[in-house]
Amino acid sequence: MTSRRDFIKKSAFASAFVIGGLPKLGKSEPLTRSNDAVRKPIVLSTWTHGKPANDAAWKILSAGGRALDAVEQGVMVVEADPTNLSVGLGGYPDRDGHVTLDACIMDEKGNCGSVAFLEHILHPVSVARMVMEKTPHVMLVGEGAYQFALANGFKKSSQEMTAEVKEAWQKWQTANNYQPTIDKNNHDTIGMVAMDTNGDLSGSCTTSGVAWKMHGRVGDSPIIGDGLYVDNEVGAACATGLGESVIKICGTHLIVELMRNGKTPQQACEEAIQRIAKKQSNYKTFQVGFLALNKNGDVGAYSIGKDFNYALAVNGENKLYDSDYLVKE
Ligand code: GLY
Repeated sequence: MTSRRDFIKKSAFASAFVIGGLPKLGKSEPLTRSNDAVRKPIVLSTWTHGKPANDAAWKILSAGGRALDAVEQGVMVVEADPTNLSVGLGGYPDRDGHVTLDACIMDEKGNCGSVAFLEHILHPVSVARMVMEKTPHVMLVGEGAYQFALANGFKKSSQEMTAEVKEAWQKWQTANNYQPTIDKNNHDTIGMVAMDTNGDLSGSCTTSGVAWKMHGRVGDSPIIGDGLYVDNEVGAACATGLGESVIKICGTHLIVELMRNGKTPQQACEEAIQRIAKKQSNYKTFQVGFLALNKNGDVGAYSIGKDFNYALAVNGENKLYDSDYLVKE
């Protein structure tokens, strides 16, 4: 979470600059299988906080449990961490001081549920699952999502902004003239994708969103096909980074479709990042990272800039890896 603290100091506001000519695709070392056997169970998730999340998911997967349960329980660990500044109620607030949460979940049958702009609830991913399982809808937002949560047994949390977060918010207010901040370090959503011993895929994504956002802003994380997409015939993908950028290319849906058309997870992630670089001239001013998993248990990871990492648990080992990235200078 140091990056979030650094980001307060830097706070470069949306000063778009155009770069001539796109860099070539980076040389990647995709984490593929060493033989033809399908690697399962398997779970991967974004950033260093993915490691404890994968541990929780692995407990379910290694006991033969369902990927859907694994991806919910996994990210709940991070949602419950009050020191995490980008996921859950410990996250940085919007510019008016409200912590608003976005989350979604998707299963192997294509069922999905999502909540956005939700306040005071510790586990938005579980509310998203309940939207999926108990309503005819996919997405509930704001007060409606909150009332739905309360009506279904979730409690209003009494968790308040920590002194550290309050201080950071006040500092940001002083330095930034109430303008939303677009920055390379404002990007620590947890996205998780997993395959269980049955070979079924699921995914989840949860965040407090971009720090100091406008009140009411929703990013990519709760939007199916942007922060997360799962197709049990093909694979799954999740995203982290500047949500507006991911939404503009329907990032995770794009990656799954690229895999459907024959790309490896690594190639698909690289092409999605290239798409951003081609269409969004200010791409060097922000970060986006993608993870992907196919039905064979091959994995892909790629980001715009350096410093994107992810946790991969497979064959009983849960390790952090640095992702390859596009902008090498
Ligand atoms: N990817 C998180 C957000 O943009 O809110």
